[in-house]
Amino acid sequence: MWPVAITLTVDATTAAALAIGAPAALWTHAGALLGAITVRELAELDDRVAVAGEIELVPAAIPAELDTPRAIRAAIAAHGWRRVAGHAPTAVFGRADEHLGKLALATADGLVILRPAEAADRIAPTAARLASAAVVARGYFPAERIELATMPGALVPGAAGALLTALVAKNYGVGQPIVIDDGTGNLCDRFAARDLGLAPLRYAPVAQCPRCDELTSARCCPHAERQPALVDDAVLADPARTAALLRPEVVQLLDRAHPHATAAATWPEPTRGFILWFTGLSGAGKSTLAAAVARALRGAVPLEILDGDEVRAHLSKGLSFSRADRDINVHRIAFVARTLARHGVGVITAAISPYAETRAEVRALAAARGIPFLEVFARAQLASLVARDVKGLYRQALAGELAHFTGVSDPYEPPTAPDVEVVTDVDTIEHCAGAIVAALQSRGLLGALPTTHATLTRADA
Ligand code: ADX
Repeated sequence: MWPVAITLTVDATTAAALAIGAPAALWTHAGALLGAITVRELAELDDRVAVAGEIELVPAAIPAELDTPRAIRAAIAAHGWRRVAGHAPTAVFGRADEHLGKLALATADGLVILRPAEAADRIAPTAARLASAAVVARGYFPAERIELATMPGALVPGAAGALLTALVAKNYGVGQPIVIDDGTGNLCDRFAARDLGLAPLRYAPVAQCPRCDELTSARCCPHAERQPALVDDAVLADPARTAALLRPEVVQLLDRAHPHATAAATWPEPTRGFILWFTGLSGAGKSTLAAAVARALRGAVPLEILDGDEVRAHLSKGLSFSRADRDINVHRIAFVARTLARHGVGVITAAISPYAETRAEVRALAAARGIPFLEVFARAQLASLVARDVKGLYRQALAGELAHFTGVSDPYEPPTAPDVEVVTDVDTIEHCAGAIVAALQSRGLLGALPTTHATLTRADA
């Protein structure tokens, strides 16, 4: 049985570009390729268009930070647990989550904390939310009784959503999912035992009672002062309640993510790192465009440019222009780019990177780590580059004085499906840079861009 319909809907413009029987690429919001859908049916659904069809997954697209059910089941088997409880925290991991987990552990052999990769948590950005469960697991649970997993997607609210979560948890080896019984009707009770082979642990919502001085619930405590143990802005504004509902390590995480978190309590998501990968012939304007894009993004994202010439002067010093050495060079640049992007840096690379296969490899390596990757093709006619010949290299190559020169005596494989294509010998730098910034923006990779001159001046200051 499947309790919640999971649909893929697109807007009308996107739908108009789809054809029955034809494949369409599936991207995450962050711009990572997940796979393809062969469109079989299009149907209107709440002002949008639902797309149905067979889905093919790019295996490398499973983000490395997600745990597979198989891996967690193997860990459970290694522990030798038979009764396995599971808890899916909805937001930052509070004392209430810990309380529920420990109630379960009083009878279960082990507990799996199943953190959803996505959540609408207003008080903690994703990284802090995921880390909060980790610090509590490490500091306050016996290591031999706890497994921490990250599952894809977000929790679906409501009774049907709770049943779906239980079903997903079962795939991760959980037999006793914790279900919060808030009195809204419990589908888990109706279906779990009979149809799903699950034995849910039905707990009352956790409350904090100042009189009992403990976390409890309406089922256990008679006092009127009881308050829900949910962590919200009001809780964070009150040090006593913060201490009652969050472990100090978690408070520290929130403070580190934003110095005023526990006082002000709302902050934007941190910028996500990305890789903007230029490819194109020598002199096609990759470096110039990289600099122009960096200027446009100043103040919005932390940025690094990895320029081919500079990399070859340091990191790749001594490498030739043979295919093997170019591939090494490109893979080195990609490695550094991933390392930086992992820490929230927007990385712009500007190397010829002439081989399509190698570019596909570095794209897949980024996708496998959940790092958004955009390929930008800086296209220009060879004739224009020869005419311009800023470095004088085309003249030498054409005169036969420079062997293996890309575009003249060495291959350049233009991308067949770049994320952005700019024509640098026709359009202005500003136009090309604008198109690239727009592509980043449409993938949600930029925070608020400085728009007015006044903001730019302030950012510079
Ligand atoms: S890549 O092929 O490995 O990606 P990369 O971008 O690092 O190349 O270096 C290209 C730059 O090296 C060119 O812009 C040019 O200035 C210089 N260069 C020197 N020899 C060659 C050559 N044989 N082919 C291409 N570029 C060369």
